Amino acid sequence: MTDSPVSFYDEVGGHETFVKLVDAFYRGVATDEVLKPMYPEEDLGPAAHRLLMFLEQYWGGPATYGEERGHPRLRMRHAPYHVNPDARDRWLSHMRAAVDGLQLSPLHEATLWDYLQRAAHAMVNTFEPTGIGPSSDGRDATVAPNGPAPGTPRTSIPLIAPPPDVASP
Ligand code: HEM
Repeated sequence: MTDSPVSFYDEVGGHETFVKLVDAFYRGVATDEVLKPMYPEEDLGPAAHRLLMFLEQYWGGPATYGEERGHPRLRMRHAPYHVNPDARDRWLSHMRAAVDGLQLSPLHEATLWDYLQRAAHAMVNTFEPTGIGPSSDGRDATVAPNGPAPGTPRTSIPLIAPPPDVASP
């Protein structure tokens, strides 16, 4: 046999299908009052391109993501954003609509959807409601609600009181 194995990427229609998925997804994100403000750039095009490259690579298409961005480290890359269950469910609802638009076979659809759900659940990094403390702009989820203003150098935070002889020379 000379047949090379066909990837999921090829089976569902390759680049065209993934472009359709990601475009529809970001059309939904653009209307979302919680998700849209999280994106650092006003133009969602560059973010759409990164997600497209990632998904194509994951499913056996071109490995452009790795060439341009290196190792995905997705949880780490999402750490600056306030990904709570509400954000996850919004992300998934836009993805659900986008997947529905592809009209894949039931098996392909179930495979893709199962992955997207698991990945979205894995990306949750806080259970703080949206809009609490410094995270209200959608970012800086790692800063505690009573922490310093976003952008304050962390080295300036006295984590423990210095010993008295050091504090008053
Ligand atoms: C659970 C809810 C999620 C939220 C709220 C969210 C939000 C974000 C935000 C705000 C960015 C930064 C935009 C940019 O500049 O690229 C981002 C990047 C990204 N996200 Fe998500 N995301 C979620 C889930 C996921 C999932 C499940 C995946 C993968 C299946 C994913 C894949 C990516 C990728 C590949 C990037 C670009 C990483 C890079 O190379 O910099 N995200 N996401």
